[in-house]
Amino acid sequence: MDQPVSSAHKLPIVLGVESSCDETGVALVTLDPDTGAPRLLGQALHTQVAMHAAYGGVVPELASRDHIRRVVPLLRQALAEASISLAEVDAIAYTAGPGLAGALLVGSAFAEALAFALEKPVLPVHHLEGHLLSPLLASTPPEFPFVALLVSGGHTQLMRVTKVGEYELLGETLDDAAGEAFDKTAKLLGLGYPGGPALSKLAETAEPGLVAEIKLPRPMLHSGDLEFSFAGLKTAVLTKVKAAQAEGVLNEAMRAALAAAVEQAIIDVLVAKSVQALKQTGLSRLVVAGGVGANRHLRETLVTACKRRKAEVYFPELDLCTDNGAMIALAGLLRLVGGATPKTAGGFSVKPRWPLIDA
Ligand code: KG4
Ligand code: ZN
Repeated sequence: MDQPVSSAHKLPIVLGVESSCDETGVALVTLDPDTGAPRLLGQALHTQVAMHAAYGGVVPELASRDHIRRVVPLLRQALAEASISLAEVDAIAYTAGPGLAGALLVGSAFAEALAFALEKPVLPVHHLEGHLLSPLLASTPPEFPFVALLVSGGHTQLMRVTKVGEYELLGETLDDAAGEAFDKTAKLLGLGYPGGPALSKLAETAEPGLVAEIKLPRPMLHSGDLEFSFAGLKTAVLTKVKAAQAEGVLNEAMRAALAAAVEQAIIDVLVAKSVQALKQTGLSRLVVAGGVGANRHLRETLVTACKRRKAEVYFPELDLCTDNGAMIALAGLLRLVGGATPKTAGGFSVKPRWPLIDA
């Protein structure tokens, strides 16, 4: 009879590799021997933000080349931090999609080759599954089932998560993702890449009186479903920026006010739809994951809204909100202990487009 992996002599150790976009992440996770909860043993991360900043966005070819350069030193760093050797690793997880094809191929080729040499199995992981399970590594992890709000640079989705591997799409964006809305409006305001954190920082300096005068739409707020749309918001901001320019009032105070107004509009929609998803599913736990989940104002607003509904809201640790290797190692580990059959190493394919419900 099959033995659950966790009851073997040694608790499983999974190595995770993330390379889907502009972060190279390598990490090692295992299960806590006392509680059985997932535990991060060590991680190393390199962000390419400074490299792409000069171009105002991610340059895919440069991203792939940089992943190649970084991944081996990062592996050494993660192993050293965890104080373990490669021989102790039981399986290697890597992001198989979605993401930039060339960038994904680097992580996939590296993980498959390493696993082949070590004669270990591999676990191809869906990037968004990594994001939505990442709060399980936090000091107060959520229990299943929960509603997950996935807000990254490429995705905005609400999911019902019943258990590891059981995900139901409740609603998603029809056009731009929330992160994209932050990035594109930040660009309109002359801010650098990535725009989300920069826009959020500028918004903190805004005068409330000036912000109140800026009326921006809350797209699909009253659509009655759990779909989103952010493309119109970007156009509305462009119109305001042009008008302010024409009137000669696009000064620092106006830019800050516009940043605060757009941040508020995005947050209003994300919060309202998250609350609606809780109502619709009858669930009382909300998990927020993905880069936009690092936004302080969004976090505060969600905490308040959930408190009002007597629901709990869970976030990943701040450094695990944006892309990292730990969430990929974690998704692989949880699949493994859940009874998934890992793949024999050798040969690889990536899925730049891959709906999570097919994972
Ligand atoms: O999850 P992530 O690291 O990468 C993807 O898988 O896309 O998310 C990156 C996105 C970017 O759009 C970035 O601007 C946004 O997350 N982001 C933020 C903040 N930090 C990152 N947006 C708003 N406020 C932030 N503090
Ligand atoms: Zn991501």
